[in-house]
Amino acid sequence: MPNVQVFDTPEQLARAAAQFIADLAKASTEQRRFSIALSGGTTPRRVYELLATDEFSRQIDWRATHIFFGDERTVSSTHPASNYGMAKAALISRVPIPSANVHPISGEGDPRTNARDYVDELKSFFAGSNKPRFDLVLLGMGEDGHTASLFLGTAALQERNAWVSANWVEQLNEFRITLTAPAINAAKNILFLVTGEKKSLRLAEVLRGPDQPEKSPAQLIKPDNGLLIWMVDKAAAQGLE
Ligand code: 6PG
Repeated sequence: MPNVQVFDTPEQLARAAAQFIADLAKASTEQRRFSIALSGGTTPRRVYELLATDEFSRQIDWRATHIFFGDERTVSSTHPASNYGMAKAALISRVPIPSANVHPISGEGDPRTNARDYVDELKSFFAGSNKPRFDLVLLGMGEDGHTASLFLGTAALQERNAWVSANWVEQLNEFRITLTAPAINAAKNILFLVTGEKKSLRLAEVLRGPDQPEKSPAQLIKPDNGLLIWMVDKAAAQGLE
C-alpha cells in the first residue's frame, strides 16, 4: 500500500514536501550525489519556491544536486508553459546549483530528437545502470488521472522498455516528452503532490479503485524497489475513507 499523507492546506503540504526533499538530498549527497526529476504544473511551484528560500536552500548541497525533469511541453524554455522555465524562475535561478547539474528536456525542434537526446543524457548520468535510478521523482496528477505526460489513450502508456517517449497527445493536439512508467518506477523514491477538490474523485479511483491504468495512468506508477508517497491536501482526500 502506498504511503498517503493528508495535509490541511496546500501550504502545509508544500512545506512538508520541501522538507522531505531537503532530508532526502542530505541523505543522498552523503552517498555522493542527489538526483531529482521535477514535475510541471502548478502544484509544485510553491515547493520549488520554498526550496529556494534560505530555510530550505541552506540544507541542500547544491553542488551535489542534479535536477532533471519528468516531462516537458514542446515549447521554448521562455514560454509560460515550459516546465523548465517554471522551475528556473521558482528555483534554479535562485540557488547556487552549477549549470552543468541542470538537465532540461529541450522543448524546441523535433520532439523525437529531443527525446533521444534526453535518453542519452540520462544514460550518461546513470552510466552502468539499465534503468534511471533517480533518488526522487516528483509527480502530479491531473483530474483525468494522467501523470507526467502519460495521458489516457496515448502510446507511451504501453512502453515497457524505453526510458523516454515523445508522446503524441491527441486530446491536447501536441507532443509531450515524458519519462515512461518503467523509467519512473526505477526511482528510489516517488512523491506525488495532489491538491484540490476537483481531483478527489480521481484520487479515490487511483488509490482505492480497481487496477485500470488505461483509465487512470497514475496507476502505472509502482516503484520496482523504492518508496511511493502521496502527499495530498484535505480537499483532494475527500473520497478516501
Ligand atoms: C505537466 C505535468 C503534469 C502535472 C499534472 C498536474 O507538465 O503538466 O508534469 O503531469 O503534474 O497535470 O498538474 P497540476 O499540479 O498543475 O494540477
